[in-house]
Amino acid sequence: MKTITQILTEIVSDAFEKCGYDRSFGTVFVSDRMDLCQFQCNGSFAAAKQFKKAPFIIAEEVKNIITENPAFLKVEVAKPGFINMTMTDEYLVSLLGDIADDEHLGIPQAENKETIVIDYGGPNVAKPLHIGHLRSAIIGESLKRLARECGYNVISDVHLGDWGLQIGLVIAELEERNPEWECFKPEFTEGKVPELSADMLNEIYPFASQKSKTDEAFKVKAHQFTADLQNGRPGYIAVWKEILRVSINDLKGNYEKLGVDFDLWYGESDADKYIDELVQILTDKNLLHESEGAMVVDVALESDKAPMPPVIIKKSDNSSIYATTDLATIIQRNRDFSPKKIWYVVDKRQELHFTQVFRCAKKAELVPADTELELLGFGTMNGSDGKPYKTRDGGVMKLADLIETVTEAAAEKLRTSEFVSEENHTETAKRVGIAAVKFGDLINHRSKDYIFDIDKFLSFEGKTGTYLLYTITRINSIIRKTNTENADMKVNSLHTDAERELILAILLTGDVFRRAIEEKAPNYICDNAYKLAVSFSKFYHDNHILGETDEAKKNDWLALILFTRKLILRHLDILAIEPVENM
Ligand code: ARG
Repeated sequence: MKTITQILTEIVSDAFEKCGYDRSFGTVFVSDRMDLCQFQCNGSFAAAKQFKKAPFIIAEEVKNIITENPAFLKVEVAKPGFINMTMTDEYLVSLLGDIADDEHLGIPQAENKETIVIDYGGPNVAKPLHIGHLRSAIIGESLKRLARECGYNVISDVHLGDWGLQIGLVIAELEERNPEWECFKPEFTEGKVPELSADMLNEIYPFASQKSKTDEAFKVKAHQFTADLQNGRPGYIAVWKEILRVSINDLKGNYEKLGVDFDLWYGESDADKYIDELVQILTDKNLLHESEGAMVVDVALESDKAPMPPVIIKKSDNSSIYATTDLATIIQRNRDFSPKKIWYVVDKRQELHFTQVFRCAKKAELVPADTELELLGFGTMNGSDGKPYKTRDGGVMKLADLIETVTEAAAEKLRTSEFVSEENHTETAKRVGIAAVKFGDLINHRSKDYIFDIDKFLSFEGKTGTYLLYTITRINSIIRKTNTENADMKVNSLHTDAERELILAILLTGDVFRRAIEEKAPNYICDNAYKLAVSFSKFYHDNHILGETDEAKKNDWLALILFTRKLILRHLDILAIEPVENM
């Protein structure tokens, strides 16, 4: 379905054309002064330049044509040549009917069902998930859902960091503690490895990482273990598989709590089999050359303002690095899915890495020239001191602990609520807490830093997840009282100003989605959900639905709030926020 501004743009473009001007002047925007008019077109100015006429004259000509269309209540030309338009209530109601009948609720659908691979999450095996991974998970999940809602074929891949030095560190430390394990004997070919646990890994990694900073011999050993692992030493592969098993289980549990899930659980290690091919391609294309013992590809451009170092493909000890696996993964993704776009939802501080990788991928033609490789970089979540969020004792906050903290805060807030029953208390608190965190994050443009403020995020007022969930519960309550949960109702006419405002907010949703997907920015979805909730509240305040005696009017209102709830819930679903029945 077309969005409302697309529909009106067509009508106004026809009018420009009829008057002898180019259609492209007919673009219609939403007015930012709804009290004056609902829509605007400024095309007369550009037309005036081309035709050397006064914009006012052109606007008048166009106005005369569009006024004939009964959908317009009022068309005015404001000096020096703006065309201001207001639609009739009947027209707004008929568009609302179209949206209500549309399976996509008026959300515009991509013309070609292009495939997008979206790379987010990016946790590192053997290291606990920390707050830095939270944003990638939250933003990535909502971008995935947004793109699906807009009709794309989206494949999500967690891209586990499962092949780096952190594994070598953990295995080396395990070996120091348990030299008697079969898997550490050089003659080991196959067999069982003792069972590990997430708690063990959580303890071992920081310990080993710290040790490698002071103990040079251990550091060398960990590097050797990493290289041996990557070269396929059976005993290390066996321990690595056990580490993976434990880690992935633990990660899945954490992501599940966040309502985040992935189609693919590929890791950096899965790219390993494409590395030889990568090196071959780079060699064949004469892109690879030696520099200080390493094999590199130049990616600098003359237009670069900042230094752009070459991308390292193989280090002097022949090992691969982060860029190597990312490039090899591009080969794999292109082969398996031929995506039109690959989006990387990663901390924006990794921008240089991705610029190097993307340039190299394009130069080596690992993907067709029109495949979009894009970093959707995000900023940091900060504490009230403006520095990256830490625990009270100054350590890195683990994701699991954060979830616990917000759930507790939400539980405290809901403690006195008469609407939450004892048995629902825990689940409700969990949902409210997570909604608060997610909305508090997603309301900011992803590239911005923001301050984590749980009290603010949990507030029942303002742009918060809590306010949205609360709005849904208010609608639920009206629906329960009127027994209209499964009613098939339709808005037939519009009676009051607050109602018109709510209907307009609904009708403009399609345009918001268009912008959100174009800019890959879920914050527009947050803003719109808030706008719908505020318009509902105003409408509910101004119109006493339950006490209304005019049946037709009451039914229109109930139909309107049923649809409003459906639409807000669709927004929440895209933000991966689960509603609650009461709060
Ligand atoms: N594991 C990485 C990290 O923790 C993020 C991975 C991002 N994705 C990618 N394809 N490089 O920083």
